[in-house]
Amino acid sequence: MNPLYVSNQEFRSLAARVMSIAADFYEQLDNMRAYPRTSGARTMEAFDAPLSQEGLHDAALDALSSVVEMARAPTPRFFGYVLGSGEPVAALADLLASVLNQNVTAWRSAPAAVSIERQVVRWIAEALGCTGLTGSLCGGGSAANLMALAMAREAKLPANDSGARPGIVYASSEVHMSIVKAVALLGLGRSNLRVIPTDENFRMCTSELERAIAEDCAAGRELIAVVASAGTVNTGAIDPLEEIASICRKYALWLHIDGAYGAPGALVIAEKFRGLSQANSLSIDLHKWLYQPVDCGMLLFKDRAIARAAFSHTGEYARVLDSDPVEGFAFFEESLELSRRFRALKIWLSLRYHGLQAFRDAIRADLGHAKQLADFVRGSAELELLAPIELSAVCFRYRITQGGLDLNELNYAILRRVVENGRVYLSNALIHGNFALRACFVNHRTQDADVAEIVSEVLAAARSIIAERDY
Ligand SMILES: Cc1ncc(COP(=O)(O)O)c(C=O)c1O
Repeated sequence: MNPLYVSNQEFRSLAARVMSIAADFYEQLDNMRAYPRTSGARTMEAFDAPLSQEGLHDAALDALSSVVEMARAPTPRFFGYVLGSGEPVAALADLLASVLNQNVTAWRSAPAAVSIERQVVRWIAEALGCTGLTGSLCGGGSAANLMALAMAREAKLPANDSGARPGIVYASSEVHMSIVKAVALLGLGRSNLRVIPTDENFRMCTSELERAIAEDCAAGRELIAVVASAGTVNTGAIDPLEEIASICRKYALWLHIDGAYGAPGALVIAEKFRGLSQANSLSIDLHKWLYQPVDCGMLLFKDRAIARAAFSHTGEYARVLDSDPVEGFAFFEESLELSRRFRALKIWLSLRYHGLQAFRDAIRADLGHAKQLADFVRGSAELELLAPIELSAVCFRYRITQGGLDLNELNYAILRRVVENGRVYLSNALIHGNFALRACFVNHRTQDADVAEIVSEVLAAARSIIAERDY
């Protein structure tokens, strides 16, 4: 018997144990701390056992309790970054995806998985009002943005044969760092990323965009793309997509829309996303505002031929010999990845299980929670909003100054105290140089009472810090 063999009986018993840990975790989520009580030293110590030569078998699972204990739990009061809450039916599908161990390279390697992924891509494109866009799943928004700009580069300034040349990409000052990274990785030159200022609502100024384009044209530079944000990471601002699309048409520029965070909002407030379907490429993270477990990014694009121009470099060993449009389909001809996980199973199962309307309702609830928090902040003399509420991100701060107190320092201390206290988890943003406390609602477990706790936790932290420091 191969030493790695696991009998069916053993598998069932291990699975029952793991499922029981998972179910206990879900059961306790409501009362769990939003940040674990741990430290770097404790986590290092917990997992520093040497790799044993002999198998521990059942006992290997004992340490899972430490994993759970030191995990940052997706509680109803986790509001940091843009981290979706992890829908349980999707999590079960993820387990089965690993059991099935499909390598979703091409139809011939994973017939059901490839068909399901293509279907899920169609579903999402249609639901967002982008019927006709096609695409694939990937690790996340960063990977999707990189692939999108690789396609833009190949469409406008082909580089695959003779190497990359400097080419201009435009994006607002609020664009996600993954765009800056992609421009660098693609050899376009970070200095060729034109950072366009935003208006008072953190939306790209289109007059500034046109001015920058005209300047680059006059200087004879090669132009590639405009990256518009449909939900900036800091404040959820949506750039004027239709206007930007028309500028892109005028100057023959590729339009990439980074909707990694915001695009699912189009399921509920489609009017804010007019122009989305005009993108040449569109990134969406289903592990953000569609509540899927990480990892689950998606890139949609208009022109399959350009995806192939950018990504099709098939070695002879992988060449698809079948001309049937279904059986001859290969994701690796249109994506950066060759070996690919069966990511579509979780989306497919959780969408089928709950129905699209349930997701719309969950997104609507998040939007409502953002408004609720904004109202609390407006109603408190001690707090102030630092940005308008466009989607589900709320940036605010404690505003009472005493004796020349530095508000950035105070709000940083408040954030640390709130996180340490463990009841709610917030992250931060820098808004016009001001340190902001930031709550982002992409959490289907959150209820109204949880939103109220953000305010009580922040006020309690602020008051205790001020008292301690005797400001
Ligand atoms: C607007 C935007 N784009 C891209 C990304 C990167 O996504 P990922 O973390 O999945 O790589 C993020 C992440 O927060 C984001 O908010």
